[in-house]
Amino acid sequence: MSLLDDARDLADTVSRHLQSITTDETLTEYRGDILWKNGDLTKLMKGIKDLSDSEKRTIGKDVNIVKDRIIEAFETRREAIAIASIERSIREEYEDMSIPYPHMRGTHVHPLTRVRREVEDVFVRMGFSVRESDEITTEYANFDAVNIPATHPARDMQDTFWLSDTGYVLATQTSCMQNTILRDTPIPIRTIIPGRVFRNEAVDATHENTFYQVEGIVVDRGIHLGHLKYCLQTMLSEIFQKHIDIRMRPGFFPFVEPGVELDSSCPFCDGKWCRICKHSWWIELVPAGMIHPNVLREWGVDPEIYSGFAFGLGLNRLAMLKYAIDHIRLFMEPDIRFLSQF
Ligand code: PHE
Repeated sequence: MSLLDDARDLADTVSRHLQSITTDETLTEYRGDILWKNGDLTKLMKGIKDLSDSEKRTIGKDVNIVKDRIIEAFETRREAIAIASIERSIREEYEDMSIPYPHMRGTHVHPLTRVRREVEDVFVRMGFSVRESDEITTEYANFDAVNIPATHPARDMQDTFWLSDTGYVLATQTSCMQNTILRDTPIPIRTIIPGRVFRNEAVDATHENTFYQVEGIVVDRGIHLGHLKYCLQTMLSEIFQKHIDIRMRPGFFPFVEPGVELDSSCPFCDGKWCRICKHSWWIELVPAGMIHPNVLREWGVDPEIYSGFAFGLGLNRLAMLKYAIDHIRLFMEPDIRFLSQF
């Protein structure tokens, strides 16, 4: 038998035997038997030096090829064993993560988030898009662009946090987005803008320095106060899950004309005595109005062709009403006794 035949026989034996090996340890042991110093292949390779020079070039070369095949067979087997072992542990070490932890408490959605989602949901169904309000904005967007120039006394209505002398302020109202929306959105515009706003206020039961609003903006041909009334009546009726009536009283905001205070009928009593509406039946809820021509013109919208309404719903106020929360401070406190009720 020639050296080459011996090598091929060995390769066959090895590849057959490897199939029966299933662990790393036996593989390493067998590798030693074949490839190490006294291994079968090493011994066989020593025969090459006894060949003639020309045989070394032909037979020797082929024997080396067979040797590489054997080494490769070991590598292939090692990989197969590793994969099988991973698959085995996936199968056998499976843990059922769905089994409930014995004393786990449920998590809760914050009441403000809950009301915001409900409001968004109603408006989205009416065809509105939703865009988040900026928390840091420019003096221009917060005041000038919505018809409150520097010298206007209405600036005093909102005590403001200024960011040094940068021209930036913490948004005091989501109305700071009116300018951006008019600039970015092609008409017809139907957008609500929920956001967090800040005012330099002293805290009492209904005032906080940080609170949440949802601005609404609609611009198109022929928009009038009736559309505003319909949208807010629909939203409030959904939030309180009952028919709500709307009353409008005149109100002043520099960026709307006419401006209105929108009152909601009391969702809790039928005009009889009630702590919440103070027996008045009406609850002051949403400031709103028709967008002032100056605000439209600021972004090149022609007030002779288009009109629009805007409102600024106070989310804290709405949540307080809906869930009978009596102090605004509670929204900002990590009090589990409060939060776990929602
Ligand atoms: N931005 C006003 C406020 O925060 C509310 C408002 C919004 C009034 C839109 C009218 C129209 O007081």
